[in-house]
Amino acid sequence: MKYFLDSAKIDEIEKAYKCYGIDGVTTNPKHIMNSGKEFLVAIKDIAAWIKENHLEGKEKFPVSVEINPHLEKAEDMVSEARKISSLCENFVIKIPCNCEGLKAAHQLEMEGIRTNVTLVFSPSQAIQAGRINAMFVSPFLGWKENSGEDTYAYMSQLVNIYKEKGYHTEIIAAAVRNGKQIADMAELGCDIVTAGLSVYEESFTHPFTNYGLGVFQDAWDHTKGN
Ligand code: E4P
Repeated sequence: MKYFLDSAKIDEIEKAYKCYGIDGVTTNPKHIMNSGKEFLVAIKDIAAWIKENHLEGKEKFPVSVEINPHLEKAEDMVSEARKISSLCENFVIKIPCNCEGLKAAHQLEMEGIRTNVTLVFSPSQAIQAGRINAMFVSPFLGWKENSGEDTYAYMSQLVNIYKEKGYHTEIIAAAVRNGKQIADMAELGCDIVTAGLSVYEESFTHPFTNYGLGVFQDAWDHTKGN
C-alpha cells in the first residue's frame, strides 16, 4: 500500500518524503490555505520541489491539485484543469464527484489529463470514477467517521467492487486520521492512504518503544565491565 501526504506545505512534504518515503501528495483548497500561500505560488513551489528531488512523472510521484471549487460547469472545470496540468507533469487534477465533475473528469481522462475524483462518500459514487477510468478515486474516511458511520464496511464493499469489476482506478483512502484506519485499509487491500504528517508521526511511534529502549539501556549499563 502506498502512502500519500495530505498537505501543501513544502517543509511537511520534505519531512514525509525523507523520513517515511511517501509516494505522492494530495492537496485541497484547505491545505493550500494552510500553506499561507496564494494558490498558484503554492502549487508552483511544489512543482519546484519535485524537480529538485528528481521526482518528475505522474507515475513516480503524483501530486493531486484541486480545481476551483466554485466552478459548476464541466467545460469550465476542463479548461481550468488543462491550465493546472500544464504547470507540472506530476499534477493529477482533483475533480468533485458530482454530475458536471464526472463529465469533466471523463473528458480530461480522454485527453490524457489524469484525474482524482474527490469528495466521494458512497460506493455508488466511486463506481462512476472507476467507469470513467479516473487515475484515482478519493473516498473520505474521517468525515464519515465523524458523523458516526462505519467506514470499514464501506471501504470493504468499495474495494471488493473494484476488484470484481477490474477497474484500473486506484483507491485513495482519504482523510485518514489514525493508525487503525491505516492498518484497516492495508488489510482490506486498499491501494493508497492519504493523511496529514501528524497522523503518520503518531502512527509510526508507540510509547512502549521508548519505554522498552529505557529498559534495554538500563540492562545494557549493567553489562559494562569495569
Ligand atoms: C484528500 O485527498 C483530501 O485532501 C483530504 O483527505 C481531505 O480531508 P481533510 O482535509 O479533512 O484531512
